[in-house]
Amino acid sequence: MSPEHYQKFCALLEQHSGILLSVDKRYLVETRLSRVLRELQIPSMDELVERLLHRHEPALEKAVIEAMTTNETLWFRDEYPFAALRDVFLPEAEAARKRSVRIWSAACSSGQEPYSISMLASERNLPFPVEIVATDLSSRILEQAKLGMYDDLSLGRGLSAARKHQFFDRVEHGWQLKSEITRRVRFQVANLLDPVSALGRFDLIFCRNVLIYFSRETKMKIIEQLANALQPNGVLILGASESVQQLSERFTIERLPGGGMAFRLKN
Ligand SMILES: C[S@@+](CC[C@H](N)C(=O)[O-])C[C@H]1O[C@@H](n2cnc3c(N)ncnc32)[C@H](O)[C@@H]1O
Repeated sequence: MSPEHYQKFCALLEQHSGILLSVDKRYLVETRLSRVLRELQIPSMDELVERLLHRHEPALEKAVIEAMTTNETLWFRDEYPFAALRDVFLPEAEAARKRSVRIWSAACSSGQEPYSISMLASERNLPFPVEIVATDLSSRILEQAKLGMYDDLSLGRGLSAARKHQFFDRVEHGWQLKSEITRRVRFQVANLLDPVSALGRFDLIFCRNVLIYFSRETKMKIIEQLANALQPNGVLILGASESVQQLSERFTIERLPGGGMAFRLKN
């Protein structure tokens, strides 16, 4: 891909997904797009960029953005957010005699995050229902998440043997999540760059390991949207290396018992 086309590609990708690429990522882009080129029989990277620039081809745009997303995830990632959910936030909701708790897993990838949350809800035997809305930009990864089917390799990443046997059934090609866990989770495509008010208000938002891909300006806009999507006193949980500090004045920082931080909406 020529340097000019690479620059134009980066601008397009950021406009549609927020994902910001540095100048030294040209090789990564070419590697990730090679499958799209092969599948759609496009002869070169430069032609692909020309088509993205000058033709309106939603299917091509979608394939390109999906190829550029990083879907890395695991069960109970970093542990501390889930320990805090179990030991702090769900007991808090119980003490407040909440009638239900709504949790948003924004950028949920292949489902490990919302399903981990659902497992905790099952383990605590709560007096209220927990509703989990799980969204991602990629419809391809959401199709996979909805199946609730995983192989040994992906279950080996963060899931204990006890939970595997409690919450999954062995099936021919892997492990199928039980409906007790899947029924709390509703998956929906949502781009964090677009308005998300239709999703409603949440008591807790997990938006983990996605802000790292965005510019400071995009992060600020998204954090503002997340603040608007929280109930009064609601809590935002970001990835271990992410924070609202220097980006938003709308939260107070809470140190969590198991390490890490959460961000509570100021009243
Ligand atoms: C690294 S995964 C994080 C998954 C999970 N939250 C975790 O921490 O394990 C990042 C996810 O963000 C999604 N993503 C990237 N840009 C997005 C956007 N603009 N809106 C919504 N999701 C986005 C990707 O499709 C990908 O599934």
